[in-house]
Amino acid sequence: MTAAPAIDEIAAADLPPVCFVGGGNMAASLIGGLIAAGLDRSRIRVAQRNAERAASLAARFEVQVFADAASAAANAAIVVLAVKPQQMAAALSQFKLAPGTTVISVAAGVRVASFIKRLPDCAIIRAMPNTPALLQAGISGLYAPAATPAAARAQANALLAAAGEVCWVDSEAQLDALTAVSGCGPAYYFKLTEILRDAGVALGLDASISKRLAQQTFIGAARMAAAASEDVAVLRSQVTSKGGATEAALAVLESAGLGRIFNDALHAAEQRSRERGDDLERLS
Ligand SMILES: NC(=O)c1ccc[n+]([C@@H]2O[C@H](COP(=O)([O-])OP(=O)(O)OC[C@H]3O[C@@H](n4cnc5c(N)ncnc54)[C@H](OP(=O)(O)O)[C@@H]3O)[C@@H](O)[C@H]2O)c1
Repeated sequence: MTAAPAIDEIAAADLPPVCFVGGGNMAASLIGGLIAAGLDRSRIRVAQRNAERAASLAARFEVQVFADAASAAANAAIVVLAVKPQQMAAALSQFKLAPGTTVISVAAGVRVASFIKRLPDCAIIRAMPNTPALLQAGISGLYAPAATPAAARAQANALLAAAGEVCWVDSEAQLDALTAVSGCGPAYYFKLTEILRDAGVALGLDASISKRLAQQTFIGAARMAAAASEDVAVLRSQVTSKGGATEAALAVLESAGLGRIFNDALHAAEQRSRERGDDLERLS
């Protein structure tokens, strides 16, 4: 595997004018992050066709919101495509961009080839953020084809960093693998929290206490893992005393094949992500 090229660091505050096509949840989280990172509001324009959402975006962020993509995208140096994957083809037919415009798509599954077909003179970057981006606590995977200039990669890096951490991958296929880990990851965490909560209730704990225990235990452990210099495997062994309760529990998880189950689950997610990309490509 070849390493993705080094990315030049630029500050979000120094980004040129940015236009968001689609002003839903993901666009709002990125806009909130960009403003918090110091980008002047006057440099942010949004196309949002839903009048109620448009008014709410304008009131919340004090940015210019347009009903149509063509007006919003006029003269933008960076265009962020933040519509649903199935809305992308229609959205792309509504505006033209100057050659060299940086185009960043956050739409799951829509491949670079689809963008190159419609925007052959633009610099294309695909991003795969995850839901905690809504709290600026996400992690996004980024991919750009070899022809994408370094300056455009740096802009995409700064823009997505406004919603959390970023990491670059060196092939589009790796975005499918990354989707299985971090894109779907919040759902695994929510599911494990549900399981821990319900198992506590089955042991006789009050439902509201079990819910608090499950939530705060995972939050606390996650913070410990983020703060520690040791690997999580070391942290786990440190809380697993020989012959103790944790060891008994982990032995059950191990003998049930938890590692294999997760492996199978991630393979299923990666495959579905790939198939979805194939489906969208057929539609485009
Ligand atoms: N939310 C997440 O956590 C997350 C995570 C990873 C990736 N993503 C990706 O981010 C993208 C956006 O997701 P989202 O959750 O923000 O969706 P969303 O809340 O539905 O936002 C999309 C918005 O764009 C509007 N829109 C669609 N076509 C338009 C057009 N041509 N001109 C102007 N506005 C248009 C939609 O209006 P209508 O309501 O009228 O359709 C909708 O309000 C998706 O492609 C998704 O795959 C999201």
